[in-house]
Amino acid sequence: MKDRFGREIDYLRISITDRCNLRCMYCMPEGIETVPMKDILTLEEIAEVAQCASKLGISKIKITGGEPLIRRNVCHLIRLLKDIQGIEQVTLTTNGLLLDEMLDDLKSAGIDSINISLDTLDRERYRRITGYDRLGTVLKGLEAALDNEIPVKINAVSVDWDTYFGGRRTDDISALVSLAEKKPVDVRFIELMPIGFGKNYKGIPHDQLIRMLGESYEGMERDDSHGNGPAVYYRIPGHLGRIGFISAIHGKFCDSCNRIRLTSRGYLKSCLCFDKGVDVKKILREEASAGEMEKRLTKGLEECILLKPDAHSFTNTEEITEKLTMSVIGG
Ligand code: GTP
Ligand code: 5AD
Ligand code: SF4
Repeated sequence: MKDRFGREIDYLRISITDRCNLRCMYCMPEGIETVPMKDILTLEEIAEVAQCASKLGISKIKITGGEPLIRRNVCHLIRLLKDIQGIEQVTLTTNGLLLDEMLDDLKSAGIDSINISLDTLDRERYRRITGYDRLGTVLKGLEAALDNEIPVKINAVSVDWDTYFGGRRTDDISALVSLAEKKPVDVRFIELMPIGFGKNYKGIPHDQLIRMLGESYEGMERDDSHGNGPAVYYRIPGHLGRIGFISAIHGKFCDSCNRIRLTSRGYLKSCLCFDKGVDVKKILREEASAGEMEKRLTKGLEECILLKPDAHSFTNTEEITEKLTMSVIGG
């Protein structure tokens, strides 16, 4: 379905839990309260929303969290979603801690690709950013995914860690870029957005980052043949993977926005930046026949799509109405 600005909305991001097994400083630091399970959509409720969404033209689903792999029966959900007519792709964004042990199940459930959030390859920095000394486990998960030929992308949020930890910013960045040299994995840098705890940190502006990398890597050139979302990709000669930039601020991509989001609490969001949306949990938990329920959910989805703004207001922070944290929204 098209929104008011003529954009085709075909991508649904679903956060299936607000809980996480890490405590990243800019996302879900210590002390955040999580929601009781009864307030979280059941897997069947999620699939019901996805079913209606597919009839409105949603063909791609991204499963997010918190950390989606800690939700019990996540592979059952993936199967339910993959079985919906019209759903062409079901993908996952994870911190990677449980990937190694869950990979066989994810593969047989039919997962199409996996994004792993990984901000540094330095063990001590990883511990300080996430609160846990688990870098090795994530890297094992990455290897397991590659061994199983599941397409993998790395997500690194461009926080200026040197301000907090000292050291040289280029070390983290060049180590992450070198992952794409040796392995067929795309490494994407994500401009820090002023949502949730992200507001409290200093990001690296992507105009600077792209310039810096262009100067460091001879022959780095844009590759528009790659990707179908907000990321812009570059090729570096001799590198197996691409380098991507998701630059919500310096490369505002709202003109081509194709998505809506469902939070684990069952709120359908029209844009990352604003709180406007539709409470589908309320609809799902009303008494209604199957046909009537489908009608109400479809109306809710249509309303949400029509609520989509033309763009975010990340540079006018007083206009941002979203108060939820990224761990609830799912990015
Ligand atoms: P692919 O379809 O696998 O390319 O996924 P993706 O990059 O859209 O999703 P992912 O979950 O890996 O998110 C990467 C980053 O992009 C996160 O920081 C998200 O918050 C951000 N992101 C994803 N979609 C949007 C969007 O519509 N608007 C903004 N501003 N940021 C987004
Ligand atoms: N800005 C940009 N990306 C963020 N993420 C979490 N918080 C922010 C933020 N404030 C990222 C995570 C994960 C993805 C879903 O969102 O690191 O890769
Ligand atoms: Fe779409 Fe909002 Fe993201 Fe812009 S910020 S791309 S309008 S969801």
